[in-house]
Amino acid sequence: MSEQPVQVPFAAPFLNGEEIAAVTEVLRSGWIGTGAVARETESRLARYLGVEHALLLNSGTAALHLALLVLGVGHGDEVIVPTNTFTASAAAVVHAHATPVLVDVEPHRLTIDVEQVRRHLTPRTRAVMAVHFAGRMADVGTLRRLCDEHGLALIEDSAHALPARRDGVTPGGLADAAAFSFFVTKPLTSAEGGLLVCHRADLADRARILSAHGIDRDAFARHRGERSPHYDVVAPGLKYNMPDIAAAMLRCQLERSDALWERRRTIAARYVAELAGLPGLVLPPVDTPQDSSSWYLFVVQLPEGTDRDALAARLRARGIGTSVHFRPLHRFSYYRDELPSARAAFPVADAAYPRLLSLPVFPAMSDEDVKAVIAALTAELSRLEVRR
Ligand SMILES: Cc1ncc(COP(=O)(O)O)c(C=O)c1O
Repeated sequence: MSEQPVQVPFAAPFLNGEEIAAVTEVLRSGWIGTGAVARETESRLARYLGVEHALLLNSGTAALHLALLVLGVGHGDEVIVPTNTFTASAAAVVHAHATPVLVDVEPHRLTIDVEQVRRHLTPRTRAVMAVHFAGRMADVGTLRRLCDEHGLALIEDSAHALPARRDGVTPGGLADAAAFSFFVTKPLTSAEGGLLVCHRADLADRARILSAHGIDRDAFARHRGERSPHYDVVAPGLKYNMPDIAAAMLRCQLERSDALWERRRTIAARYVAELAGLPGLVLPPVDTPQDSSSWYLFVVQLPEGTDRDALAARLRARGIGTSVHFRPLHRFSYYRDELPSARAAFPVADAAYPRLLSLPVFPAMSDEDVKAVIAALTAELSRLEVRR
């Protein structure tokens, strides 16, 4: 009998009986909306991240939007955003009625280039959004100083970075507000979900009210009869709260966070060790005691001149899923049409983009899966090398 080739998807969640039991308990509890489980999970997340306030939401995009709103970003303001990110980073700025100003990224790390931020400051600049690309933290220390010098807010898009660390700082530590995502592929997941963290109680209170219709008291308290059914509407709110069903799943993931992180780090270390010799292949920055990635993504830059999409198709034929993070925002029609900043030159992001390929790195991968990815990429790159 012929051996079945290994099938390795690009990503898959790592759930077990704990999540099933926790969600079932909520389903049987009589209250499946936002309530005690979400509140308790928020406290645990705040402790885990070392921040004062944490608010669970139904997406990372919601967290970014609320971060901008509570920090007072609005009409006429500019927010500096790296071009190498997911559309949600800049779209949230547009939804706050402000203008994203796209800037280039640092070579290799592919996180926001602080020098570019400095060059794009104008009297309208109100905030800088640092994106911890692939789980590798941007230079938040330098950005914090720059923002303080110019009276700007620092927002971290930490959708990829739970957990990570740079120079003793963790995501959210230096920011005025930080947003995390718990989308299905993220390091921790609740299928869909997000988290807003900040250090100021007034911002957290305002975000909580805005996340639930702008109503001044919470639905769970009303449900339990602890509060009068009458309420006031104090702002034109949104509907961004995370239900307990999702929070229950997330709480289980959080309990295993360090183990999940360790597995990602082990996979990444094996890729680094075994792919290092391939000619022209640029591997992502490696961890050091001062700088550890969440390893949400393992993004390589293929040898110059490689047809990335053809290579990805050949890997797919060998059963290996891959992805591309990211097509830079200035290459999308909406941003190009709407933002003058998107029509500038982005030499670093443009040079990197055609070469970017994300390999599978998720805790549910077996050692066999990792070996299969290494073997397939090595074989395909060697085949191309021979042809050169
Ligand atoms: C960098 C970045 N920011 C924000 C988001 C938005 O998160 P969500 O999908 O939870 O809204 C994502 C999602 O993939 C992301 O990659």
